[in-house]
Amino acid sequence: MRIKIAAKNFHAESFETIGILTYEVKPEKISLDMLPEKIRGLCRCHLVNTDFRAKRGTSAVIPVLEGKTRFVVVAGLGVKKDSSLDDVRAGSFRAVRAAAKNGCKTVAIFVEGAKEREISRAAAEGAALAPYRFDKYIKRDDDDKFAAPEKVVFAAADEKGLEEGRILGEAQNFTRDIANEPANVINPQTLAAKALALADELGLECEIWNEERINNENMGAYYAVARGSANPPRFIRVTYAPKGRAKGHAVLVGKGLTFDSGGLDIKPADYMTTMKGDKSGACAVLGAVKAAAELALPWKVTALIAAAENMPDGNSYRPDDILRARNGKTIEVNNTDAEGRLTLADALCFASELKPDFIVDIATLTGACAVALGPNTAGLFTNDDKLGTKIESAAKVSGERVWRMPMNDSNLRKSLKSPFADVVNCGERYGGAITAAMFLEEFVGKDIAWAHIDMAAVDFVKTPYSCYVKGASGYGARMLVSLIMGL
Ligand code: BES
Ligand code: MN
Ligand code: ZN
Repeated sequence: MRIKIAAKNFHAESFETIGILTYEVKPEKISLDMLPEKIRGLCRCHLVNTDFRAKRGTSAVIPVLEGKTRFVVVAGLGVKKDSSLDDVRAGSFRAVRAAAKNGCKTVAIFVEGAKEREISRAAAEGAALAPYRFDKYIKRDDDDKFAAPEKVVFAAADEKGLEEGRILGEAQNFTRDIANEPANVINPQTLAAKALALADELGLECEIWNEERINNENMGAYYAVARGSANPPRFIRVTYAPKGRAKGHAVLVGKGLTFDSGGLDIKPADYMTTMKGDKSGACAVLGAVKAAAELALPWKVTALIAAAENMPDGNSYRPDDILRARNGKTIEVNNTDAEGRLTLADALCFASELKPDFIVDIATLTGACAVALGPNTAGLFTNDDKLGTKIESAAKVSGERVWRMPMNDSNLRKSLKSPFADVVNCGERYGGAITAAMFLEEFVGKDIAWAHIDMAAVDFVKTPYSCYVKGASGYGARMLVSLIMGL
């Protein structure tokens, strides 16, 4: 799909769908000047008769016939003073999605304030996200006209912003395309193949370690988690380096459990479905490094994934096992379903050895976090307040919600103590998202700025909203890139 700026003298009636993004006003006041004169009356009539006020999240889809134009979509952004970039993103999404559903190939969009780079970026993101469907495994109905438009043009927009938005939106689509794949398709090996293919396409550095190498590299916690699966683990590193001197080095670590059955502490059936999504953090860091490269950001960006499958088997790791992580710390296993933090422990040790400017890990880590914050907001934990604030700003720009969580509860920290090892992998039940973050902190090098994003349940959209449709959310990729773009 091409996303570009409309030429100065362009004719709206040569587009099959015309989208108008507008702030909340009375239906008589909505500006329709950009429409071909002949259909203005009809559209006004529709808006007035349906009392359409452009409230946030609403849209009017008006069938018309003038030139090539078949639909006018008026998308509401809500009251201007309370509206955010996400309203623009979602408005653009609704206009392009209406076009896609009706099989329209060309779309022209009018957004107030499009000259601003951030507005253009958000609008282009919405457009790039709109035609997304994960439908490769279903037979289409004959009357299903859904198709991605070929061309979306924005009137009077900012060119850089549009290009950034397209890249970021496509990175999120890339992320959810992998995340949506079931575990019989994506296992550690096929995930590594996806990373390699991405690196090949963009000329990035990529290194993959197999199970033997992982063991030889003293990643004893990660290696243990992977042992029960017929699908061997792969440690994946993809690096983007800018031309010339980098402004800094960001390491992004994604949890990559291609399936989490719980292991010997097996999950009940109701909790095991959606666990193909336990690789969503990994997909997000791949999406982020893809966008960083396409945007030619001035930062070096490394994506690290300790990919594994957590399965019960005669060869599985067990409760009570004592493991040794790469930094030498020993871990007593008291629950094999707290596996993500074990894989991340070794990945964070490795990340720390790279001596980056900062590390961010993103993981579907704890049900406790999902209970605390719900399915649309991730938990943010950090040892560096400045990094935390920068992530919060990046999240505002990307429209992906995060909420700061505490890590200063010294009492809770005691629940990670073991009489037999340096730590246990699972602390007390209450505050489970916090103790998980505290556990991870044990494996981050001293003095390295680090943040942990717990995106449990945020990986999977049950109730569509904003630019999200059912299925994998693709959460995180845009936010991570926004963070680096802002530095
Ligand atoms: N992958 C799960 C966490 C999860 C839960 C993600 C719900 C998405 C939705 C993680 O590996 C896990 O099983 N966590 C346990 C930890 C517990 C054993 C301490 C949990 O949250 O129940
Ligand atoms: Mn688990
Ligand atoms: Zn898990």
